[in-house]
Amino acid sequence: MTDQTLSVRNLGVSDLASVASIHVQAFPDSALTKLGFEAVRRYYEWQMKGPHDAYNIGAFDNDGTLGGFCFGGIFRGALGGFLDANRRYLISRVITRPWLLANPLFFDRVRLAVQSLNWRSRRVVAKPRPAAQQPQVQRRSFGILSIAVRPNLRGTGVAQLLMSHSEQMAKQLGYSMMNLSVHEANSRAIGFYEKLGWTRVMDDDGVWRGRMTKTLATADADSVYKQLDHS
Ligand SMILES: CC(C)(COP(=O)(O)OP(=O)(O)OC[C@H]1O[C@@H](n2cnc3c(N)ncnc32)[C@H](O)[C@@H]1OP(=O)(O)O)[C@@H](O)C(=O)NCCC(=O)NCCS
Repeated sequence: MTDQTLSVRNLGVSDLASVASIHVQAFPDSALTKLGFEAVRRYYEWQMKGPHDAYNIGAFDNDGTLGGFCFGGIFRGALGGFLDANRRYLISRVITRPWLLANPLFFDRVRLAVQSLNWRSRRVVAKPRPAAQQPQVQRRSFGILSIAVRPNLRGTGVAQLLMSHSEQMAKQLGYSMMNLSVHEANSRAIGFYEKLGWTRVMDDDGVWRGRMTKTLATADADSVYKQLDHS
């Protein structure tokens, strides 16, 4: 499979098993993976069916095999809603896997997930201007919730293809920024994002905890701001 033979399309419910399969391989240490394949499938199902403005895409080869996916957009309760909707199921998973409770890595992953949820739910708004100069376009941020490719397809351009499609979508929808959270130890993903122009966002205490952002040059937003600057 090379990027020349790949096509990108929106993901549907029928793709969930393939998405979960890639997630399990791509994130073997994630809290979600530790809860099992079905928990992963349900997590992505919630991202498709919940009250989000989501643009979930996959790269497929000619045989229809999913090579990678990217879930992006505005997610409302990506984690909280999933936990609520699957409370009983998840409790039963933890009860049958009590060793998870003694695993610090599990809690670390949960902490990161909660942290990233808080970051994503924050809306990025432009510095306030006088009422007469208020632009019609607000500086909204398009979040990347999850991106992963099959391990054998890393370094082949699949991830870049997916990110490029997501970025185009964000621009078309008038977003002026993108944001994501990455584990600070995930050097490959960080290298990937930096290669594509993403930058690290420091927390108020000057420590980097995995938040990254990318500014998009959307024609609409730019022209609005230019007009205002010259008025
Ligand atoms: C993150 C991911 C989507 C990136 O896709 P990829 O195909 O591996 O990315 P690329 O090979 O195009 O780019 C990776 C960049 O990271 C760096 N890199 C490559 N191999 C690396 C390695 N073994 N260790 C550290 N950095 C590495 C390089 O800078 C490389 O850029 P280059 O091609 O110019 O050399 C993919 O690795 C993946 O699915 N990882 C598992 C899931 C994941 O971590 N997702 C991100 C969660 S926030």
